[in-house]
Amino acid sequence: MVKKGSIHTATITDTVFPNKGVAYVDGQRIIVHDGLEGQRVRIKVTKKRGEKVEARILDILEKSPLEKEAACAQFGTCGGCTYLNVPYETQLEIKSRQVLKLLADAGIQGFDFLGIQPSPNITGYRNKMEYTFGDSGDGTLTLGLHKKRMRYEVSPVTGCQLVDEDFLSILNAVLAYFRAAKVPFYHKKSHQGVLRHLVIRKAGTTGEILVNLITTSQQKLELGELVDALLQLTLAGSIKGILHTINDGRADTIQADAVHLLWGKDCITEAILGLTFRITAFSFFQTNSHGAQELFALVRGFAGENLGVVFDLYCGTGTIAQIISPQAEKVIGIEIVPEAIEAARQNAKLNRLDNCRFIVGDVLTELDNLIEQPDLVILDPPRSGIHPKALQKLIASAPPRLVYVSCQPVSLARDLQVLTESGYRAVKVKCVDMFPHTPHVETVALICKA
Ligand SMILES: C[S@@+](CC[C@H](N)C(=O)[O-])C[C@H]1O[C@@H](n2cnc3c(N)ncnc32)[C@H](O)[C@@H]1O
Repeated sequence: MVKKGSIHTATITDTVFPNKGVAYVDGQRIIVHDGLEGQRVRIKVTKKRGEKVEARILDILEKSPLEKEAACAQFGTCGGCTYLNVPYETQLEIKSRQVLKLLADAGIQGFDFLGIQPSPNITGYRNKMEYTFGDSGDGTLTLGLHKKRMRYEVSPVTGCQLVDEDFLSILNAVLAYFRAAKVPFYHKKSHQGVLRHLVIRKAGTTGEILVNLITTSQQKLELGELVDALLQLTLAGSIKGILHTINDGRADTIQADAVHLLWGKDCITEAILGLTFRITAFSFFQTNSHGAQELFALVRGFAGENLGVVFDLYCGTGTIAQIISPQAEKVIGIEIVPEAIEAARQNAKLNRLDNCRFIVGDVLTELDNLIEQPDLVILDPPRSGIHPKALQKLIASAPPRLVYVSCQPVSLARDLQVLTESGYRAVKVKCVDMFPHTPHVETVALICKA
């Protein structure tokens, strides 16, 4: 009988978003975390609430016929990727099938599905990595990514396929330096120790690199030799800045109590679709630069030419607003993070765009203050989607067309359902794979008044 704690053997028959297998035991549907269709597994039921049953894999008894050898020694233990053991074509097929199923389940139909755009780079595509200092289990200082489902242990990333060689060269130099200097890592339980994170950003389009070391202030560090070691590395890109950020906060997030510029400048630039974007250590930017070009070009194509007023809601650093700007009379961006709006304004100035206006605030409240009537609304909300009240306000203002850029197809399906019930219809949908080897996928929908 299926109950909490019971152990079963089953075959996974489907993979649903984000990376959940589906298996049936005694007719009961079970969601198997991290399961892949075709795997024969031994599972333990971790949750049972009515018909909702979840399980975790104890052993993989037989691999899925979809699987291949993963090109990374840390695959399986490192939390960095999920589908490195699945051929890329199959990953794309799984992702587009999952998005279509979510839309179909929400009753969204009758649109033109334009398939899934592969990432231009399948390996080494990330332009930012946040590495954590810690211990890999035996007390040795390690610098890497969190192990899967582990809060404290860190996996090395020697075989990482998500970044290029420059990331690993910089990481190895930093690790070697601190191992030799015997500086302790910060323990998240005791809050004692010094080394917390290393954030490396490398602009995918220009090769410019920004290195940011994050430590506590519990020990005064002399970092001149580390800077020299980094500047002597032979890299494909070029280091433009090295920063030292102090973070004495207790939460495991990167916040800055103080930022010291150790060398160079505090920003790098990306060149996307003919525009320049200045990126600082803490600004948001899409993590796959070449994939972002594909995504933005798709949004631009869906938006169309000769636009009047365009709203770019949840605009972040205003990238989409600026890319749309030449084909619009006026673009108004709204974003809740003041620093992102500051970056958006600076970048618009750098790009000599004078028809973009950026507003700091919550979309929910700022929509009330706009007197303009938009021809087109672009929406790129966070994973949770659009706040239901904000969506109702938007619907009440009756824009003729919307372009919805979604990083979470579950919330896209939910919001599209509301829009469909309110007189809109999805006309075109296309997925863009910005995150190979992970379960994530971007989906862009053109939505028109029916
Ligand atoms: C997926 S990102 C959009 C990125 C943006 N298109 C870009 O390329 O920079 C979602 C953005 O929504 C912002 N956000 C989240 N909740 C918000 C809200 N209630 N009102 C306005 N912006 C919000 C986040 O800070 C984040 O920058």
